[in-house]
Amino acid sequence: MIRILTLETTCDETAAAVVTDKLEVLGAVVASQAELHLRFGGVVPEIASRAHVERILPVIDQTLEKANLKLSELDAIAIANRPGLAGSLLVGLMAAKTLCLVHDLPLIGVDHLQAHIYACRIASGQDVFPCIGLIVSGGHSNLYRCQSPLDFTPLGGTIDDAAGEAFDKVASMLGLPYPGGPAIQKAAEQGDPTRYKLPRPLVNDKTRLEFSFSGLKTAVRYELFGTGRPAMGQAANLDSQVVADMAASFQQAVIDCLVNKAALAIRQSDFSRLCVGGGVAANTPFRNAIQRQADNDGFELFIPPLSLCTDNAVMGAIAIERYRVSQFESLDLDISPGLVR
Ligand code: KG4
Ligand code: ZN
Repeated sequence: MIRILTLETTCDETAAAVVTDKLEVLGAVVASQAELHLRFGGVVPEIASRAHVERILPVIDQTLEKANLKLSELDAIAIANRPGLAGSLLVGLMAAKTLCLVHDLPLIGVDHLQAHIYACRIASGQDVFPCIGLIVSGGHSNLYRCQSPLDFTPLGGTIDDAAGEAFDKVASMLGLPYPGGPAIQKAAEQGDPTRYKLPRPLVNDKTRLEFSFSGLKTAVRYELFGTGRPAMGQAANLDSQVVADMAASFQQAVIDCLVNKAALAIRQSDFSRLCVGGGVAANTPFRNAIQRQADNDGFELFIPPLSLCTDNAVMGAIAIERYRVSQFESLDLDISPGLVR
């Protein structure tokens, strides 16, 4: 049996897991930093990297304890070294390299976005490739043609903000806490999604597989505060029904954009499977809407359980695919913070 320790520090989650070549999870731990970033309404990169430094070794220890394994009993260590926040990526990479050096283990580099799609493979227990991949997270909103777990062709992405980022910023305008996605989803349960007429950017352009959420964010701001600058603390004075109705209207607008372009990507391709990953895929109304679209259009939908949508190290099991073909890295491996298109 092959056993790999996978590490994830691309953003604000410090996570580790031990996975096998049968895609079994022997142990997994996620240490969230949400409370550290709460008062800033978003991830502060410097705080994130410092918190990774404090948490990475205890998280690895706890994971190995759960798996009842010693480092010397592993076959490799995998690290998500791209894309993500530079400082955060470096902490995980340095930890992985050091442990590989000390324990003479091979090092495997993992693409965090490919890992998000691979979560569908792990959760379903089925070979989900080839498929169209939709990644909707705090940093990314992209569509890919996924020929195989390690071979993705970009089809399009956001031309400005990521969907999760828009959730986080709109939550902040509404006086809701970080992370904004779950807070907006909860507030929206009491809201009317038709009260505010918000735009669905690019939805009518059937030639583009792209998203745009920046204008939608601005539309929310103008609707709430007019075109002037909102006064300090203005969000706190919003009526609770306004918050609920705006949360519901905004959420519905994002869902419409995501579902529309994912369905268009499937229609334009010769694939009949859609795999969705990333934190926004944890949104219940989105999950219901994309399932309805799949049933309607006759494509197969794979979407992981919530714990495998938000950042985790279990999805780093994609490293098994590289292990099988001996795709190991030298200790010169570097980070790649940006999206490679
Ligand atoms: O994939 P992820 O954990 O980290 C990145 O790689 O970015 O995604 C985090 C994003 C945050 O923007 C958060 O607000 C959003 O996912 N999110 C949600 C929900 N849960 C997390 N967005 C909408 N609804 C949710 N239930
Ligand atoms: Zn992610």
